[in-house]
Amino acid sequence: MSVLVTGGLGFIGSHTVVELLNNNYDVIVVDNLSNSSIDVVDSIKEITGKDFIFYEKDLCDKEAIDTIFSKHKIDSVIHFAGYKAVGESVKKPIMYYENNLISTLYLCEVMLKHNCYNIIFSSSATVYGDPEVLPITEECKVGGTTNPYGTTKLMIERILKDIQISNPKFTAIILRYFNPIGAHKSGLIGEKPNGIPNNLMPYIVRVASGELEILSVFGDDYDTPDGTGVRDYIHVVDLAKGHIKALEKAQKSEGIFYYNLGTGVGYSVLDLVKAFEKVNHVKVPYKIAPRREGDIAACYADASKAFRELGWKAELGIDDMMEDSYRFILKQSNK
Ligand code: UFG
Repeated sequence: MSVLVTGGLGFIGSHTVVELLNNNYDVIVVDNLSNSSIDVVDSIKEITGKDFIFYEKDLCDKEAIDTIFSKHKIDSVIHFAGYKAVGESVKKPIMYYENNLISTLYLCEVMLKHNCYNIIFSSSATVYGDPEVLPITEECKVGGTTNPYGTTKLMIERILKDIQISNPKFTAIILRYFNPIGAHKSGLIGEKPNGIPNNLMPYIVRVASGELEILSVFGDDYDTPDGTGVRDYIHVVDLAKGHIKALEKAQKSEGIFYYNLGTGVGYSVLDLVKAFEKVNHVKVPYKIAPRREGDIAACYADASKAFRELGWKAELGIDDMMEDSYRFILKQSNK
């Protein structure tokens, strides 16, 4: 069974490729290296002891994608590729809409041309906007996204739905991720944002390693137990395993399906800082700063549908997430 993974050298993509290889899938990765590194190819091979095919190609190059589909019989696609920085998307909306939407449209067009009907799409809890109820179920209203990045996720969900309506054989599994953190236990792959990180976990690890001076905690006056923002952090290896379950579902179903991938547990910013300090025996200096524009108070999943229908649930806890995130960054700085 061969699976094409777009953006397969990125943070979530690379961990998913590892799980696919561990489960004996034939894997073809397409990645344009715009936010990933070629070294990840060797790291994945080292972790799994298995080989896979890699193409350095851009999904917006329709002919190149068509050629890949002509060369290989591809059964399913897992689609990660896309720009993902919230702040950048506000500054460069055209770039975000152009890249994320056109690449997906071309990919789907080529898939259908080559009779490939299964797609797993990397969506986000951001499609729920400011949630009306907690925990968030898949039935909650979507919309109200606060930045172009989030809106591309919402639009792609809609595009996939319309393609499914026009072609009943086409099966789309939409995975709405909560906050993926952590890294592979080997310390060989993990999250490597370019420049100063925007997200909490990459920031914490860089403060702990001394690369950055102090963490700014964005707001301590939210309506949450300690006043800081609450999120559903999920270990990237658990998340990657969710894709294998989704693939199994896609292969035996027709239609469009939506799943939250989270743990169902919310942790505040200060919970994370304390857990990190305890597990790694290191201090994370922080200061309270004003709220960050566009942030919501709390967001966590009801992930029971994924358990009921996919047989998936997150297994790794907050301590694993803290330990593995730090191991990866220490290993990187020792390179
Ligand atoms: N935070 C800080 N200091 C920082 C960075 C973050 O206090 O330096 C806080 C935020 O205010 C928030 C929490 O840490 O309360 C988590 O923030 P992240 O930026 O790590 O994550 P978000 O929940 O804002 O964003 C994530 C993904 C997005 C996705 C969004 C909604 O990064 O891609 O969830 O699903 F769109």
